[in-house]
Amino acid sequence: MLNSNVLRKRSATLVIAFFLAAFAISQAEANKSGALPPGKGRDLVVGTCTLCHSASIILQNRMTREAWDETITWMQEEQGLWELEAADRKTILDYLASRQGVEHKIKKDSGKRTNSMYEFDYKPNPL
Ligand code: HEC
Repeated sequence: MLNSNVLRKRSATLVIAFFLAAFAISQAEANKSGALPPGKGRDLVVGTCTLCHSASIILQNRMTREAWDETITWMQEEQGLWELEAADRKTILDYLASRQGVEHKIKKDSGKRTNSMYEFDYKPNPL
């Protein structure tokens, strides 16, 4: 017969299993193409770039086209990324530079005032 101690241990195991499963699912979510913004070349990026790590490593980074290019070369030289067809590399870079580029971020944030000192537009002192 099960005593309450065993039951308590079992439910603790269940709770842990639940959180592990939830974590695994959220990791899998990040891997899905849905995590990457839509755009031309997204499928190619998902197919090429989410085999060794999740898409979130891409989403965490914003770089210029040159820096993305260097990152790909670095992964080829150091991390086992294979040689890409020239056309594929261009499509991937076009996507990364436009979706995970730096201009995108600057444009989105420009005009936003982050310093609370400038929250109000002070009129110049008329005196
Ligand atoms: C053959 C496996 C492999 C493939 C395919 C791959 N990567 Fe990586 N990538 C790695 C490894 C390994 C790391 C290092 C992970 C770490 O440091 O934990 C990495 C790291 C990164 C980083 C982080 C770089 C940094 O400075 O920390 C980015 C961004 C990245 N990859 C983007 C991409 C993109 C974009 C593609 C598709 C063109 C891609 N990866 C395909 C293996 C791969």
